[in-house]
Amino acid sequence: MREQALAEVADATDLNALQALRVRYLGKKGELTRQLKGLGALPPDERRAAGASINALKEELEDALKRRREALEGEAVARQLESERLDVTLPGYGYPVGGLHLLTRVTNRLTDVFRSMGYDVVVGPELETDAYNFQKLNFPDEHPARDTQDTFWTEDGRLLRTHTSPMQVRYMLSHAPPFKIVVPGKVFRNEAVDATHEAMFHQIEALVVGEHITMADLHGAINQMARALFGPETKTRLLPTYFPFVEPGAEFAVWWKNPRTGRAGWLELGGCGMVHPNVFKAVGYEGVTGFAFGFGLERLAMVSYGVPDIRYFYGGDLRVLRQFRGEL
Ligand code: DAH
Repeated sequence: MREQALAEVADATDLNALQALRVRYLGKKGELTRQLKGLGALPPDERRAAGASINALKEELEDALKRRREALEGEAVARQLESERLDVTLPGYGYPVGGLHLLTRVTNRLTDVFRSMGYDVVVGPELETDAYNFQKLNFPDEHPARDTQDTFWTEDGRLLRTHTSPMQVRYMLSHAPPFKIVVPGKVFRNEAVDATHEAMFHQIEALVVGEHITMADLHGAINQMARALFGPETKTRLLPTYFPFVEPGAEFAVWWKNPRTGRAGWLELGGCGMVHPNVFKAVGYEGVTGFAFGFGLERLAMVSYGVPDIRYFYGGDLRVLRQFRGEL
């Protein structure tokens, strides 16, 4: 029995088999237990020696079971470690890192410049009323200047704003002067789409209102912005023109040397002027003056970064977008 039991323990391949052997030999009804119980039937002079040898075998078997169990457990741990093997020196998988869109970067650049000049940055709704987009900006019904800003209308008579200027009205109606604000945002026009025209584009608008604000302040602000953007040598010019909500009104341009092409020239940026008295009347302001200016971001971004077609901005083509992930 000893040899058979020890051989079976040595051959056991898992913990369940070991447990079954323990029950079979050492359990309450196990074979060794049965033999111990049978000692009483032996003649007294044989009992002692038989008892000793049964107990010795019991210990030997317990010891063998224990060692076999430890060996099996060790093998299980080794198998698990092997199956979970992880080489932490492998290069690993890279996750793609996104970046800011070129127009977002240009917007951030501009709002940084204006913040450094003491302006607050505010935004307004893209869906506007006729009153804010036109009427209160001194575009009466049937005014021919409306023709230059055809847009998309909702059935209830609202429209996608054609410029960021309506935020001038909204801000003045809810704030008291003096203040300096800039308003970046999307604007919409009914355009025949081509390389330089889109039905959606971006503008940034500035409005400064207070006592004794003059056209010299306007030109100074434009100079300061242009020099922050393009360097201290930059010049600007104002050419008289008409916008309903300013008087006098002007278009402004920046003389700059494009670092990308090395060429210098006038870059027509946008419109500007002194806030029209009718606009102040529409918002209930008295005893103040102010200036405003506004311009589009796409053209600035296109000439600055050599983007040949405005549609690239919104096409979602990663080959385009990836080129502008780095620092501006
Ligand atoms: N809102 C005008 C446009 O979209 C641009 C503009 C002109 C804005 C003159 C101004 C301004 O603030 O004073 O064409």
